[in-house]
Amino acid sequence: MINRKGIILAGGLGTRMYPLNITTSKQLLPVYNKPMIYYPMTLLINSGIKDICIISSIEYINLYKKLFAKGQELGVKVRYLIQKKPKGIAESLIIAKNFIKTSPICLVLGDNLIFGNNKEIERKLVEANKNEKATIFVSKVKNPNQYGVIKKYNNSKSLVVEKPKKFISNKAVIGIYFYPNKAISFARKLKPSKRNELEITDLNNIFLKLGEMNIKLFSKQVFWYDAGTHINYFQVSKKIYDYEINKGFKVGNVHMAALKKGLISKKKFNYLASKYNKSSYFS
Ligand code: G1P
Repeated sequence: MINRKGIILAGGLGTRMYPLNITTSKQLLPVYNKPMIYYPMTLLINSGIKDICIISSIEYINLYKKLFAKGQELGVKVRYLIQKKPKGIAESLIIAKNFIKTSPICLVLGDNLIFGNNKEIERKLVEANKNEKATIFVSKVKNPNQYGVIKKYNNSKSLVVEKPKKFISNKAVIGIYFYPNKAISFARKLKPSKRNELEITDLNNIFLKLGEMNIKLFSKQVFWYDAGTHINYFQVSKKIYDYEINKGFKVGNVHMAALKKGLISKKKFNYLASKYNKSSYFS
């Protein structure tokens, strides 16, 4: 059995979201009827990951503890670590090294929401979980200059270019990354970029150069949003509302994901649902 450790990075200053997050952490802001972090937590649970660590700043870490405690409600283990300064996504692997120990890793960004064709999402995540190589996911976007983007070379090798000014391709790298354990030692060797961060793109390029990285494309039936700007945040909230109300699908319901994966009993689920009987979250 694979004992992959999950990390949700819920740090960063999130200045693009000001003033919404002056008094709280961006990844706790509501997206329709649940906190933003429920969506990446659901992804980890759907991937089959049961040991999860949330990384946030000292200012907000207690809020996450209040939300998930030790993970009992979801039948998973949740722990908490602090990122002192926003020094980049790749730093999370170094921060979490004692939590990860010798396990493989799945790192997910707390503001990335992936939903839509559940069968496709779950199949691809579970495959990535089982695979010994690293896996990144890409999605076709209209604004590739805001993301890490796949550049394909003539020798059919690919690399990721972070926020390219000129158009290279429309395949943006999504904020969910599966790595073997050696990603920690690779992360330690990274040098800070111009924006003074340990770039996840630099780490991904190490695996790509070694030929140890799978690149998986999500189809058009899978929606991906980085909710880190006002427009994206508004659009994703609206899309999820439409999905839940018009299509009748629940998105990002961590408790339902835990029930489906057999992590909690139907009895426990019903008990929790009864506590929420005035909320649209379960009903
Ligand atoms: C980060 C990564 C980028 C990735 C994006 C996904 O961007 O650096 O490669 O495509 O997350 O949301 P940032 O949020 O740091 O601008």
